[in-house]
Amino acid sequence: MFEHAQQLPPDPILGLNQTFQKDPNPDKINLSVGVYQNAQGQTPIFTAVKKAESELLAAQHTKSYAPQAGDPQFNESIGRLLLGDTLVEQLGDRLATVMTPGGCGALRMIAELLVSVRPTATLWVSTPTWANHFPLLQSAGLTLKEYAYYSPELHAVDFDAMKASLMAIPQGDIILLHGCCHNPTGADLNPQQWQEVLDIVKQRELLPFFDIAYQGFGDGLNEDAFAIREAISMMPEVVVANSCSKNFGLYRERTGAAVVVCENERDTAAAKSQILSAARRSYSMSPYHGGGIVGHLLNDQALTSEWKSELDQVRSRMNSLRVNLAEGLNTAQSAVNFDFLAQSKGMFCFLGIEKEQVLTLRSEFGIYLLESTRINVAGLSEQNLPVIIERVSDVISR
Ligand SMILES: Cc1ncc(COP(=O)(O)O)c(C=O)c1O
Repeated sequence: MFEHAQQLPPDPILGLNQTFQKDPNPDKINLSVGVYQNAQGQTPIFTAVKKAESELLAAQHTKSYAPQAGDPQFNESIGRLLLGDTLVEQLGDRLATVMTPGGCGALRMIAELLVSVRPTATLWVSTPTWANHFPLLQSAGLTLKEYAYYSPELHAVDFDAMKASLMAIPQGDIILLHGCCHNPTGADLNPQQWQEVLDIVKQRELLPFFDIAYQGFGDGLNEDAFAIREAISMMPEVVVANSCSKNFGLYRERTGAAVVVCENERDTAAAKSQILSAARRSYSMSPYHGGGIVGHLLNDQALTSEWKSELDQVRSRMNSLRVNLAEGLNTAQSAVNFDFLAQSKGMFCFLGIEKEQVLTLRSEFGIYLLESTRINVAGLSEQNLPVIIERVSDVISR
């Protein structure tokens, strides 16, 4: 049977990582991976997460299935982290949360819900967007089209082009918005711009579908949830795919949530039942471990404040690396002004150099970034920054 199986190429991002692993260059540097790394190049477990996990395991007496929608404590507390207490209380049964295997699981479950209620739905995504949005959401049956977002010339969001593009989306379509820390560009909207975008979304009667995988990595936990909270207070229906991979460092535990807000209790219960049915048809029952940890942590004040201060350190480390990179590049060469790097948010940004220069960095110096010029800011360190600045300046000054 499998002689008919076609060998597929690796995923572009995961494939580049494999090429990096095989590169014999002892000075190689990987700026392409999608995980946070500390100054030692490690992806550590948050201390508060480790403590929550130990307590959880010590108190656990069964590995029987968790409820199909996931650990109720996780669902309740992740809703509060995302939306804030006031909104959660106002929404009551108009809000439903289902634990999913990571943010990707949440994206997929929401895509299945959308296809079940509107089989001809078109989902509009930003140009560019996270590469995995296309295979993940299209394979669920959604048609994807793009709206204008980032301008490589401006090194920023082309806001006028974005608004014009949104105005042209047919009424009733769905729009995918990165809640914060846009991947891959790192270019976010400010609150005033969000307001204008949400006004258009409301006016065009589009369904806002938020993907939030970096809450706390941009400006802060509440600040990063601004757009989602604002959308919910303005519009009757909003869906959110949430990931705990980055902000709780739970990557391999596959922890996320599909969050649905509908106009009334009936619609919310029906939408939730569609998600549970989609889950039953694929992985059947909810994962537990990561959600159990998050639910336990967020219900313990001391662990929560310890986690928040660890998250603050992660964010401020990335901010200072970003500023140091921009300043270092501006000092080392004069061909390009890299001030825009310091404005970006989250783990990723575009370096904005030529594709040939990306390939030269890889082949000559073993410095790996995606061809789009996306770099993982957390792949920078106090140690490798001078080398990176020197090599990037070298290739752009040739
Ligand atoms: C924009 C975006 N959405 C969703 C995800 C999903 O992450 P996970 O499935 O690992 O939780 C990621 C992870 O890189 C992401 O960058």
